[in-house]
Amino acid sequence: MTRILGIESSCDETAAAVVVDGCEILSSIVASQIDIHRKYGGVVPELASREHLRQIVPVVREALGEAKLAIADVDAVAVTQGPGLVGSLLVGVTYGKVLASSLGRPLVAVNHLEGHVHAVFLEAHIAGRRPELPAVCLIVSGGHTVLYDVQTEAAATAREGKNGAQRFCYARMGQTRDDAAGEAYDKVAKLLALGYPGGPVIDQLAEDGNPHAFRFTPAVTRGNPLDFSFSGIKTAVLRYVRAHPEMSGEIAAREAALQRGERKVAQLRPSCSRLTRDLVASFQRCVVSDLVNRTLAAAEERDARAMLISGGVAANSELRRTFEEEAGARGLEVFFPSRALSTDNAAMIAAAAYPRLLAGELGTMEMNAEANFPLA
Ligand code: KG4
Ligand code: ZN
Repeated sequence: MTRILGIESSCDETAAAVVVDGCEILSSIVASQIDIHRKYGGVVPELASREHLRQIVPVVREALGEAKLAIADVDAVAVTQGPGLVGSLLVGVTYGKVLASSLGRPLVAVNHLEGHVHAVFLEAHIAGRRPELPAVCLIVSGGHTVLYDVQTEAAATAREGKNGAQRFCYARMGQTRDDAAGEAYDKVAKLLALGYPGGPVIDQLAEDGNPHAFRFTPAVTRGNPLDFSFSGIKTAVLRYVRAHPEMSGEIAAREAALQRGERKVAQLRPSCSRLTRDLVASFQRCVVSDLVNRTLAAAEERDARAMLISGGVAANSELRRTFEEEAGARGLEVFFPSRALSTDNAAMIAAAAYPRLLAGELGTMEMNAEANFPLA
């Protein structure tokens, strides 16, 4: 039995978790900084690193406490090396190094994006399922929108761990050329005064709107049709709002409501005109169909057996519904992590570390945080 303590601090969540043999979650603690960054409408890197420093020790203690383990019971320490905000990553990397060396336990450096892939396998394991490979994985969050081809690594198969821990190999098929999809949700929500983060609010508000009211079209990404681009749709929404000064009254009313701390959809909804509801429903329809269509094209290109969808935006209800319908129609399987495993967490980092630990791929005391750390 291998108990890995995972640590994640790449963006605005300080997280720690204990996972046994890469698949059984004993604890998973996430301290979110949303309340700190909300008034800026996005993550402020300097504030994020300070908050990680404040949170890291209590979060690790809570993860150990919930797992009913003492620190000395941990067999290895896994930490996110990148990609992410360098100041935030450094807190986790430094803490992980010190912890591993003082305990005399191995340290495993994990790519955050590989963590998101493993979140899908963790969830599938809980449900008694296992995605068949080859698969395509869409990682879609506030910081990333990227499509990978996920294969079983031939060499890794021979080294397969005792619980079937497999190493995967990845090939990047497409990525966003500008904004991440979650970033587009957050920016549209900011300009319509719907609060931060924007995704969950737009997700709910879109249910009351007409998704066909506005004709937003997905970007054409010359050179690689599997790349994404979301800055155009955000600008299209902005242009629309500027051209309709009658919207300024309701936007000011919502800004005032947000100032008073009234952030719930039920509190914001009454001030949302039909125009606003149609606008967010049409925006969401365009983003969701774009994400689904390019992922389906990638799956077809690689003759994939399954589609794996991970990251904060994977919680979106229309995205889930559309993926399930389209996958069903094609006899493909689609896998989503639960909401808790979709967003940033440390259980996925500990899970991704397990096959690396078994393969003897260890981090060193010289390793550094890598703000840009491609998975493939
Ligand atoms: O993975 P995550 O927690 O953090 C990173 O960005 O790494 O993702 C947060 C992003 C935010 O942009 C948020 O607006 C978006 O995920 N999000 C959603 C939903 N829930 C969160 N976007 C659309 N629909 C949702 N239900
Ligand atoms: Zn993430």
